[in-house]
Amino acid sequence: MPRILIAGCGYVGQATADLFHAAGWDAEGWTASAKSAATLSVKPYPICQVDISDSDQVAERRRTFDVVVHCASSRGGEFESYRQIYLNGVRNLLDRFVETKMLFTSSTSVYAQRDGSWVTEESETKPARDTGRVLLETEKAMLDRGGTVARLSGIYGPGRSALLSKFLAGTAIIDPESDRFVNQVHRDDIASALFLLVTGELQERQIYNVVDNQPMLQSDCYRWLAQRLNRPLPPFRELTGQRKRGDTNKRVSNAKLRSLGWTLQYPTFAEGMEKSILPGLSEFDVPLSPKC
Ligand SMILES: NC(=O)c1ccc[n+]([C@@H]2O[C@H](COP(=O)([O-])OP(=O)(O)OC[C@H]3O[C@@H](n4cnc5c(N)ncnc54)[C@H](OP(=O)(O)O)[C@@H]3O)[C@@H](O)[C@H]2O)c1
Repeated sequence: MPRILIAGCGYVGQATADLFHAAGWDAEGWTASAKSAATLSVKPYPICQVDISDSDQVAERRRTFDVVVHCASSRGGEFESYRQIYLNGVRNLLDRFVETKMLFTSSTSVYAQRDGSWVTEESETKPARDTGRVLLETEKAMLDRGGTVARLSGIYGPGRSALLSKFLAGTAIIDPESDRFVNQVHRDDIASALFLLVTGELQERQIYNVVDNQPMLQSDCYRWLAQRLNRPLPPFRELTGQRKRGDTNKRVSNAKLRSLGWTLQYPTFAEGMEKSILPGLSEFDVPLSPKC
């Protein structure tokens, strides 16, 4: 039975570990905290508390794996936590699991284009923030050692959608002057992409964008939600400050991954919302704004 370690068994990590387990793999998940490990103890595979940024803790682990996926997240965080969790985490895993197939879940935030253009894995990467530069350095460490990089776009899925949460909380605004494309992907499609990359033969030292088929203007997402939920459109107002300056505007292509045979269960935001998110709307812990 092939063995896989999911280092960072959070929102995406769990879905991925579940998928591999269901496919007959011997999966193991790691979390940073004892609390998360305890919560996940109901899983039909072992969950261990291991801090991947601590080289001693990683080096002490005795089990070996055929595949290791770095799926840990700094949950936003600042430069130092990026450095610890991504760069040091990946280096520690590479040092401990030599000659093991490795995959790093990075982010499409490494693309800084602002002109709405399409970007592929070949496009320029010039992240605006130093946290993005840490991701690039981590990608390089992974690629140099023969690993694979999956650049994930904005994750949504059951109980999680930044756009829907803002819409429901009444904090969304539409600024036509700084409207931009958003690139999203459903959690379960990420898991199937990682499964394809791990089980395929072609992916060493390669980068793949993991994003759905249809980038959407942010305002169109809100329009779709307003119409579907029969609620008012967010107010039109000028976006100010950091957000206005910091946001990128690009359309991320998934053609490379699809050319390997990746098919999406939720190819568009509308399909993901209809089939997966809206049926569980009560999972979104925000007050509903008044109906039209
Ligand atoms: N959110 C997005 O839209 C987005 C977009 C692009 C890329 N990504 C990337 O996608 C990946 C998965 O994100 P996610 O949303 O599934 O993350 P998540 O739900 O926040 O889960 C993160 C997991 O990593 C664990 N972790 C954190 N620090 C660790 C450490 N030092 N050692 C071991 N485990 C550690 C956490 O454990 P605890 O629960 O104990 O803290 C948790 O299990 C990350 O690489 C993230 O950067 C996310």
